Amino acid sequence: MGKQYSRWQHSIPDDWTRPIVDSAAFAEEQRLLASVWTFLGMASDAEKDGDWFRASIATRSVFVQRFGTELRGFENVCAHRFMPLRNADHGNGPIVCGFHHWAYDQQGRAVGIPHCRELYDVLPQELGARLARIELATCGQMIFGRFPHPRASESLEEYLGSGFAVLAAGSLARVRPYHLKIPLAANWRLGAQISLDDYHSPAVHPRTFGREGYIRRQDISYHRFGLHSAYLYSTQADGLEQIARACREGTYYPKYYTILQFVPNVLMAFFRTDFDHYHCVILLYEPVGHDRTIVHAWAYPAPVPGHRPWTRALTDPVRSFIVRQYIAMVLREDNLVCERIQGVAHQIGRAPLLGRLEERIGWFEETYRELLAMRQND
Ligand code: FES
Ligand SMILES: [Fe+2]
Repeated sequence: MGKQYSRWQHSIPDDWTRPIVDSAAFAEEQRLLASVWTFLGMASDAEKDGDWFRASIATRSVFVQRFGTELRGFENVCAHRFMPLRNADHGNGPIVCGFHHWAYDQQGRAVGIPHCRELYDVLPQELGARLARIELATCGQMIFGRFPHPRASESLEEYLGSGFAVLAAGSLARVRPYHLKIPLAANWRLGAQISLDDYHSPAVHPRTFGREGYIRRQDISYHRFGLHSAYLYSTQADGLEQIARACREGTYYPKYYTILQFVPNVLMAFFRTDFDHYHCVILLYEPVGHDRTIVHAWAYPAPVPGHRPWTRALTDPVRSFIVRQYIAMVLREDNLVCERIQGVAHQIGRAPLLGRLEERIGWFEETYRELLAMRQND
């Protein structure tokens, strides 16, 4: 093994599949990730007063609700006897539990408890029951959340680093993003890995990207920022900084295929559809079980300033329709590979042989373990 070649082998331990095959190890991994900033959904999912949507942070069900100008997040578990308060993907209305009608205010306090005096001898406020709050932060249209933790004090902006500006600008969709959900019968990390793999396209996506979809390593560049990484179809060493700067100045217009991946489980990609039109997709691998994941995609025309507004108003719907079919097809092709690997994951006892087009997988695995280690020591 050459020196360069073996570089990434060291960052992945032989037992890297443990949380992928073992549900107890998975539960422990998720417990540690609960205080890491996690993408929950788009602000357009909670636009009007009283709008709410359900999401999850490290397998724990949560919901985000708008109260006037403010967004609040709570664990989706009633303080009384633990019934989930929100039992659909989204809706609008006050927080009232369907089991015994306890009602909560915007601080998450149980303020309406049927027959409270008679059953508990006190007033609702004296009982002091409340929902567990989660911390929320937004970046453009993207809402992130985490469970509070004494050592989790890093702001979302600090956590996302130079990627913050890109997500902020890239998420300002002009139209409501199309949201696609696909179940994946495999661990979320296998999904994250395939999203960081620039080698599999000719074999896995011959119909979608063409058999000649091989990418030459010398034509692209990989970048690391904080815990995260980026792929640019450009060789400019400061390409990512240029993009971030343009995003901050409000002048960003994608010129080439660009992907920013954020540990643990979300990415934003800009890709060309036709001529100089670009689309944006946000991809989220939501962990459900050690062998179950929900893949979410939010897709919309890239929000670029003043780019042919008239023709785009006419052509974007067509473009968006085609992009949806395309994304669904690519994800299904990726998912099939992940599901097949999941089927033999218990046979895996060593690190993968990562090549140059899989370098970002090595980085991802490295930072994933760093994150867990940081939380473990807490
Ligand atoms: S469990 Fe929610 S009101 Fe009883
Ligand atoms: Fe793929």
